[in-house]
Amino acid sequence: MIYKANGSSGLSVGEIKRALPGPPGRIGREIIFFESVVSTNTLAMDLASKGCDEGTVVIADHQTGGKGRLGRVWVSPPHKNLYMSIVLRPVISPGDAAVLTLMSAVACAAAIKKISSIPVAIKWPNDLMASGRKLGGILTEIKAGMDGISYAVAGIGINVNLDMTELPDVIGGTATSMYHETGMFRSRTEVAVEILRELDVRYEAFLTSGKGWIIDECARLSSTIGRIVRIDEGAAGAFTGLAEGLDGDGMLLVRTQDNTLRRISAGDVSYPRDYVPQDEGRALCREL
Ligand code: BTN
Repeated sequence: MIYKANGSSGLSVGEIKRALPGPPGRIGREIIFFESVVSTNTLAMDLASKGCDEGTVVIADHQTGGKGRLGRVWVSPPHKNLYMSIVLRPVISPGDAAVLTLMSAVACAAAIKKISSIPVAIKWPNDLMASGRKLGGILTEIKAGMDGISYAVAGIGINVNLDMTELPDVIGGTATSMYHETGMFRSRTEVAVEILRELDVRYEAFLTSGKGWIIDECARLSSTIGRIVRIDEGAAGAFTGLAEGLDGDGMLLVRTQDNTLRRISAGDVSYPRDYVPQDEGRALCREL
């Protein structure tokens, strides 16, 4: 399969469908493409509520209201990037939904590395990082019922051929793209195909073997573990500590300056540049 790639490389649903392995793989059995939508996640959640098949993929060339984690905006210009949402119907509890984010992140990291050799790291829980900048992100949304998850949507945004000068200054300094990292335009079709393949393999393994190995893979690719992190929990406040690892549910374990191990399930993680430890924190930092 030859994928065309140029600065505004088109997306071909036909090529994506032909390149996917098909049954028993379930991701991408149905692929729906739109030139422009508000948000592929919103649309996929709506389709899921109406009973669409598991594995349905919604892709758009452009989003007018792309959503990021924690209520942020996902800047989604046309012709450049990948905006894609996948409907999943795993039989799991809402507490296990976080693993779907980690699973999508490791699938994206593996796919991008395969295509471009860019070493992608995962900033827990959902950021895809290259050269310390954000290359992409995952937004998982769920609908939970009395018995667990009714459905989930894994939303994936990847900066593929974006020229960083096209982004607002405030984002441009912290973002990157596959083009920016390598100087080469990539086919968005190829990026979509590889991500869907990597996701399909992992999703099947998750359903049959559980979440442990996904969490291990995420820990191996993590740029968060071993670093001093600042956790901002919104109204609950913020604190700084050493990210020690992930627990068996994929939650981030952070050792605070008073030696308490805190288990983080949500919140904004950042890497403070100007971190000055308190007295009791010095020993902690020397260990790094
Ligand atoms: C983040 O890093 O905050 C998550 C970004 C997720 C963006 C993707 S783009 C496709 C899908 N549709 C959306 O509105 N958001 C996700």
